[in-house]
Amino acid sequence: MKLVGVIGSGIMGSGIAEVIAKSGIDVVIRSRSQETADATKNAIENSLKKQVTKTKITQEQLEAAMAHVCVTSKLEDLANCDLIIESVAEDLATKKELFTALDKVVKPSCILSTNTSTLPVIEMAKVTNRPDKVCGIHFFNPAVLMPLVEVIRPITASDETIALANGFVKACAKDAVQVVDRAGFIVNALLFPYLNNAIAMFEAGTATMEDIDVAMKGGCNFPMGPFALLDLVGLDTSVAILNALHAEFKSANLEPRPMLKKLVSEGKLGRKTKQGFYSY
Ligand code: 3HC
Repeated sequence: MKLVGVIGSGIMGSGIAEVIAKSGIDVVIRSRSQETADATKNAIENSLKKQVTKTKITQEQLEAAMAHVCVTSKLEDLANCDLIIESVAEDLATKKELFTALDKVVKPSCILSTNTSTLPVIEMAKVTNRPDKVCGIHFFNPAVLMPLVEVIRPITASDETIALANGFVKACAKDAVQVVDRAGFIVNALLFPYLNNAIAMFEAGTATMEDIDVAMKGGCNFPMGPFALLDLVGLDTSVAILNALHAEFKSANLEPRPMLKKLVSEGKLGRKTKQGFYSY
């Protein structure tokens, strides 16, 4: 991969672009406006500056990584990309519209991938004229630190596409696992029932949020408790993931808990809005 396009300038899009640039691959980030595109470039530079301050990387490595980053608000600027990673809102209609447009703009050999957490990749593949070149490439939050990437294979994807996706993940110094196109893939299908049950436990008055978090950190050696993790993932994203899991597997404990939905309706979406289960 010589040039990778990342679409979307949220936490995931920005983190994924940083990983790619640090791996020495050119990345063009497409955001809906030039302002948010420029802000994403600044966010990446600030993240790298923090790593310089902590002596994790050198100033030269920062400059080398930034030389690989460019931003745009125009989809046409992605025309020469070898791979696209879509990381926009978790809404199937939005993603399908984007894949339809991308298919017309990028070169025929370009692989189109989605960073969706749960949506069916096949639905995006079907709106293109290159369903064999569409797959999922799912990074975890925070992308810069999390070692895993899930490579999702819809039934239409060719062996070559999956091999190229795996090669790209390896070039980013991440560990790839391969999974079929089923809601939640591996990680979210196992993680979100646990997160939702933690909220149910708190709603039932079994323990405080703080004590549930302390318990799961100290009792299971998890790096963070379920409420801190929900706030990190984003409560709106968490509702979207649970809804998709519930739609596919129907189990009652996959229905987003009332407290989670209430926080989202109040605009308390977790760390990104500085208020979720906790205040930041
Ligand atoms: N971005 C970049 N660096 C970060 C960061 C972020 N968001 N958060 C923390 N860091 C850095 C810190 O600066 C710190 O660096 P230092 O060691 O040089 O000081 C280092 O990471 C450790 O941070 P902390 O000491 O503050 O906190 P932790 O030791 O708890 O590490 C963590 C932070 C890596 C986020 C860790 O808590 C963790 O692994 N948590 C679990 C995250 C997880 O499970 N993610 C998956 C969520 S599911 C998902 O993403 C799927 C999607 O589809 C929704």
